[in-house]
Amino acid sequence: PAFTDYQAENATISQGLVESNHAGYTGTGFVNYDNVTGSYVQFTVTVATAGVYPLTLRYANGTTIDRPMDVTVNGSPAAPGLSFPGTGAWPTWVDKTITASLTAGTNTIRAASTTVNGGPNLDRLRVTAPSDSQPPTA
Ligand code: GCU
Repeated sequence: PAFTDYQAENATISQGLVESNHAGYTGTGFVNYDNVTGSYVQFTVTVATAGVYPLTLRYANGTTIDRPMDVTVNGSPAAPGLSFPGTGAWPTWVDKTITASLTAGTNTIRAASTTVNGGPNLDRLRVTAPSDSQPPTA
């Protein structure tokens, strides 16, 4: 299905740096979250139609310690304490997908670290169109 990519390096960054020293990122770099609680990357996502959208965060974590983050949509929890476990190495990027309700128009999607280690390195957010072939629910 159709999707739109939002590069972390183009998003709003609070307590983080755009870097490009680990290969495999898309776009022009990635965000290295500061190693503090509350560092975040915030994306502005515009969709034409309200619905439940798959949201895929592409990240790397070269440590063996989880780097959980609170994912919020328009200020409301969408995935509290979402796990971003180690990927084996900093140049090894992995997709983490959740689903969340988006409203028609502009949405604010924030991924904020919840531990003193900060977040993982974040490459992008991919917003995928909801399936147009959902089975009936009754
Ligand atoms: C290393 C690594 C960074 C990473 C950092 C961290 O310095 O090179 O890309 O962000 O560790 O632990 O957050």
